[in-house]
Amino acid sequence: MADRAKIEAMLAKEDPDKLAEFEERIARGEKIEPGDWMPELYRKTLIRFLQNHANSEIMGALPEGEWIPYAPSMKRKLALIAKVQDEVGHGQLLYMVAETLGKPREKMIEELLNGKGRFQNVFNYPAETWADVGIIGWLIDGAAMVMQSRLRATSYGPYSRALARICYEETFHLMQGYDIILTLMSGTKRQKEMVQDALNRWWGPIMQFFGPADKLGKHPEMYRWKLKLYTNDQNRQKFLSQYVPKIRELGLTIPDPNLRYDEEKKRWVYTEPDWDELFRVIGGDGPMTKERLALRRLHYAEGRWIREALERFARRRAA
Ligand SMILES: [Fe+2]
Ligand SMILES: [Fe+2]
Repeated sequence: MADRAKIEAMLAKEDPDKLAEFEERIARGEKIEPGDWMPELYRKTLIRFLQNHANSEIMGALPEGEWIPYAPSMKRKLALIAKVQDEVGHGQLLYMVAETLGKPREKMIEELLNGKGRFQNVFNYPAETWADVGIIGWLIDGAAMVMQSRLRATSYGPYSRALARICYEETFHLMQGYDIILTLMSGTKRQKEMVQDALNRWWGPIMQFFGPADKLGKHPEMYRWKLKLYTNDQNRQKFLSQYVPKIRELGLTIPDPNLRYDEEKKRWVYTEPDWDELFRVIGGDGPMTKERLALRRLHYAEGRWIREALERFARRRAA
């Protein structure tokens, strides 16, 4: 979000009566629909959220997509193909939602391909072994699910409805990932070590994924307008409460010696995640950022003939 002075300047330009009515509608639990009046700050922030979310879905399909040819059985391969296909579908749905706010999809794709568009940190890392596919499906989709399921109550109607569909499919992704981990953890010593190794590598990025702790009062509009419903740390706390017991139950060690639940404060205590790493990675300098964007550009170029054929077909039908 822009800094406070810019926010105030944007809000000062809005019609106060319309702004008050807009806020009353949201407070009553009504959804804002594409043709409705909305403040410019709401529209711009939503576009940024949606674009980032859509980019993350299609970039997130890559690390797992790379493993489709090496899935250890036909059953695993089918499940993984279905999951990857779902993720690309989520991207499609979210770009469509962003388009209802006035930003063309071509522009968003162009920004992603030229490195201007952002996507989540976790999709900038390599998926080194089959255990990584399990950890991604179970814990990364799990972390995303904590945020997405809570965000279903967002005030923008099309986003909220898209999230309902996305969350429905995500429950399958979690099962898919958990089943891979469960199988490996009931296997050989080497298989268990693979899972532990994947967890060691992914834990840092997962903790960073939720972002640095922010305060409810810093950008009150975000909460009043239901663009955010919980702070970053509230989401991280929920994730830890849901997953730490399950991870430990499988006999895995979480690579953070300071991680514990503080009964008095009713919250998880953990080693402060490496925020420099997070900002470096989302800024375009992750271990796999360049390779993944190159792959995305290649797919985009290879799909050009399909887009052109569809455009010609649409033009001919409209004529
Ligand atoms: Fe997804
Ligand atoms: Fe997913």
